[in-house]
Amino acid sequence: MAKKIAILTGGGDCPGLNPAIKGCVWAAEKFGFECVGLTDGWKGLVEGLTTPLNREITEYIIMKGGTMLGTSRTNPFKKEENVKKCLETFKKLDLHALVAMGGEDTLGVATKFYREHKLNVVGVPKTMDNDLDATDYTFGFDTSVTKAMEAAESLMDTGRSHRRVMVLEVMGRHAGWVALFTAIASAADFVCIPEKTIDTGAMLKKIKESYAKKKFALVVTSEASELPAVGEGEQKRELDQFGHVILKDRGMGERIAAFIEKNTGFETRSAVIGHMQRGGAPTLFDRMLGVRVGVKAAELVRDGQFGQMSALVGNEIIGVPLEKATGRLKTVSKDWDGLMEVLF
Ligand code: F6P
Repeated sequence: MAKKIAILTGGGDCPGLNPAIKGCVWAAEKFGFECVGLTDGWKGLVEGLTTPLNREITEYIIMKGGTMLGTSRTNPFKKEENVKKCLETFKKLDLHALVAMGGEDTLGVATKFYREHKLNVVGVPKTMDNDLDATDYTFGFDTSVTKAMEAAESLMDTGRSHRRVMVLEVMGRHAGWVALFTAIASAADFVCIPEKTIDTGAMLKKIKESYAKKKFALVVTSEASELPAVGEGEQKRELDQFGHVILKDRGMGERIAAFIEKNTGFETRSAVIGHMQRGGAPTLFDRMLGVRVGVKAAELVRDGQFGQMSALVGNEIIGVPLEKATGRLKTVSKDWDGLMEVLF
């Protein structure tokens, strides 16, 4: 009888998950495994929720956004009984291995199952935030930034017509990659990222200079940026099951816009692209990266390389220890300062 591999997708969805599922299923079947999908992230393993997965079902999902398996932010390690249930499901389904596709939270759980319970787990890195360590890029990022870049360009058109300052707020949680790449790619005048408290003096100076020349300006901000004067009081905010502050409705773009208008007198508007940047068809880059890391995950299972994650390093897909990927968050480093000084 063929050995069985379960696949799950956890955390925020992103374009590229379906290509990764296809890559993993097609390679796994080629190696003689049978696949099964666990639905809604780790919740699927806790509750034993499954869906069939095979070549036919996954043939045309490569061009689809989201995840055909569904997802959730369930953390089984929040309750000891849920860890037990996961181990029982693993046994009951007679699984040989589990491929977990996710970001730092989902892969953090995978790391724990491997380390503490010796489960045969392999990871696949995904996140539109691009903040996972040990891989050069994660799928989802390219599509999200492409969408944010298009939104920024639209804002620029209307800002130019109305002689306004426009502020675009993008997601990315506590890493500024989405904001930084969007701002660079759309020729924004200023960027605000969570890694640096906003230098309000520099921001106002740049906006005034830009406005004097062009009669409009564009600012891109991350949802998690900080205005020094405001003081966020994050401790009172709602947390998810992994202890992260839920950033929705934080209104960073709106606050920055109000600050700019008050201090420059220029009419200013803000817009939030929100979850729109996380849906839609994956770009070519995300389809290719998704398929490649998916195939590699099946290879890691075939070779018994458990506790590993498939990663993009240079232009190669290799296996790296899961612990390396989840040990710290990859945020925008000081190496980018020079480029930011040139462009903003
Ligand atoms: O982690 C991915 C992400 O898209 C972040 O950029 C964002 O802060 C968060 O998910 C939003 O989460 P949710 O979909 O649960 O509102």
